[in-house]
Amino acid sequence: MVRVFITGSADGFGLEAARQLVEHGHSVYLHARNQSRAADAKAACPGAAGVLVANLASMKETRELADQVNAIGNFDAIILNAGMLYGPFRKTPDTGIPAMVFVNVLAPYILACLLHRPKRLIFIASQLHQQADTSADDIFWFERGENGFQDFPAYCDSKLHVMLVANAVARRFQGTSVVSVHPGWVATKVGGADAPDKLEDGVETYVMLAEGEYDQNLTGKYFVPKKQIGTPLPASNDISLQEKVVKACEDVTGLKLSD
Ligand SMILES: NC(=O)c1ccc[n+]([C@@H]2O[C@H](COP(=O)([O-])OP(=O)(O)OC[C@H]3O[C@@H](n4cnc5c(N)ncnc54)[C@H](OP(=O)(O)O)[C@@H]3O)[C@@H](O)[C@H]2O)c1
Repeated sequence: MVRVFITGSADGFGLEAARQLVEHGHSVYLHARNQSRAADAKAACPGAAGVLVANLASMKETRELADQVNAIGNFDAIILNAGMLYGPFRKTPDTGIPAMVFVNVLAPYILACLLHRPKRLIFIASQLHQQADTSADDIFWFERGENGFQDFPAYCDSKLHVMLVANAVARRFQGTSVVSVHPGWVATKVGGADAPDKLEDGVETYVMLAEGEYDQNLTGKYFVPKKQIGTPLPASNDISLQEKVVKACEDVTGLKLSD
């Protein structure tokens, strides 16, 4: 039996992975953005050990989530799965960062800084990181602002940035297997109605990583559906780019990613 925490598990990949892990007899903690979505999550996955609540577009709530998770105890696996794509800038009140970039990049950074280290830390990226601008300039849209914002390119960039964070974490956290995942292009709220891939193929990868059924000496790797290891954009392995993103996250949050 393993203890697993999955962010954004009221829907999509997170919910289905949680359901399967519960079926396999594991202790699974869900997460939802508010109380109403927490009730939905619990109803959809009644065997879960608990549901934690936090809006991951909020610095305060994301920090409080880390406290709640740490209070439960040690986790075997934590899957930083919550993400969003479509929609306008949605300026977050405490930082001015677009909500998508906060949820996709900054929330995983904050959680990586504050959570007690699990045996396996899994960042959910996307193959769309391959279409990102590799400059890692203006990660938080402070220079371009709301007028220049386009959700799709911003999403591609955010997924490269979260992989750069993941690989920086992998270099620092000795004894934790830290990986990134592209779960497949699937018809969820993020994937859109026309997506061609199967949810179960991505969920297979989540379940394998959560259960630790792979070589856990692997760290800084990129997994894809059907438990396979994929080939990421070479820029994701560029240490100076990783550190550029880490520094930007540190400047905004005041949190340092320790060794
Ligand atoms: N579907 C694809 O084709 C695809 C491809 C590549 C990568 N991904 C990635 O896979 C991950 C899971 O996405 P999905 O496809 O399963 O989509 P999904 O069904 O929309 O799931 C995303 C989850 O994140 C939660 N979330 C979003 N913003 C949040 C916030 N501010 N606070 C708390 N929770 C928040 C959502 O909550 P609500 O349910 O309440 O909205 C939802 O439970 C994401 O990181 C996504 O970028 C998906």
